[in-house]
Amino acid sequence: MIEYKSELKKILLLTEFDTLEAQLNSISKVISEKDLANFFIDSIYLKSVIQYMADEYWIQSQAAPAEVSFDRFVKKFFSAELKPLLFLHSFFSDSNIDGLHSAKKVLVQTEKILLNIIKTKSYPYQKTLLQISLQRMSEIFELEYQLNSPQKKKKDDSKISLYRSFDILDKVFELDYILNETPSADQKERLYEGAGLGVQSSYATTLIAMRYLNLGKGSQFIDLGSGYGRIGLVVGLMRPDIKFIGYEYVSERVEVANKASRNLQLDQHVRFITQDLSDPHFKIPAADTYYIFDSFTDETYATIMAQLQELTQQRKITVVTKGNAKNWIKSQFWSEPQEFNDGNLCLFRSKARLI
Ligand SMILES: C[S@@+](CC[C@H](N)C(=O)[O-])C[C@H]1O[C@@H](n2cnc3c(N)ncnc32)[C@H](O)[C@@H]1O
Repeated sequence: MIEYKSELKKILLLTEFDTLEAQLNSISKVISEKDLANFFIDSIYLKSVIQYMADEYWIQSQAAPAEVSFDRFVKKFFSAELKPLLFLHSFFSDSNIDGLHSAKKVLVQTEKILLNIIKTKSYPYQKTLLQISLQRMSEIFELEYQLNSPQKKKKDDSKISLYRSFDILDKVFELDYILNETPSADQKERLYEGAGLGVQSSYATTLIAMRYLNLGKGSQFIDLGSGYGRIGLVVGLMRPDIKFIGYEYVSERVEVANKASRNLQLDQHVRFITQDLSDPHFKIPAADTYYIFDSFTDETYATIMAQLQELTQQRKITVVTKGNAKNWIKSQFWSEPQEFNDGNLCLFRSKARLI
């Protein structure tokens, strides 16, 4: 068995890419699932950090070329963005801006090759790898969140954004977006036809929400308008004790989500159901947590919120909103939200005093 940290250091120094695939293939045979997951996630993360560093370096060099020393420039990043990758200190201190650019090229290839390698593994292997990957990503997103918090961030500081960095994970889940969905012409709901990736919450949003929700053991979680199912798959992998249901109007999306859930053997506790939530005969089941991401027309929002408000009279519930869904939350039923990402993500806890 070999350790991924030393291997990652080695590939960053590659200048000839022809051998990269063979090298990663042979590494993948002699490292554990855990190390392969960390290799995958750290290389994706590092690619984003390097891009961010290169942009910052360019900006600083434009402003005051004589004052930018590469050593001093890099040092700053080891107390912040590069903190999870301290083992790469020697690579960065021996490098220069050209070294960063060629390392980024290697990492772009590495991400693709590792994905192909992962897809040759069995589903149980992929499941373990995904669980470890999500854990690592959760730590990384927490760091990003802390670095970008208003207290830490100085005015005018640019900030690293990992919002879409990990979207490649969709390929591990096999969330193939169906871009030519054609719902019936008379439907009035807001279905984001053809939006693909655009209908999905980012992994950053999902994992930050999970971190701060403090989900109770064995609790129930419902995604209202579950799209291709990212939320349920992430919740299901990280918390096998939670019962998750996603309701979604577009049946093709439900099928993609359920297939991923079955492949990863999550289907005992993660289910996706085709359902029009505007149907007046449908009653939203009781749960502890509801997730809503900009899903509905005004009329459907009104129907759904009335049901959730009624549920607050029976139990304590939390509603997670992403985007504009927060505008439908009425303050007489819900306490002030816990806000993230400038209010793009909010956690609202019900206020009612239960008898
Ligand atoms: C922006 S996406 C969010 C997907 C997922 N919750 C996420 O955050 O990744 C909203 C989803 O709500 C679904 N939707 C809209 N109106 C609906 C309705 N009346 N009933 C069920 N689903 C609906 C849309 O088809 C879309 O897939």
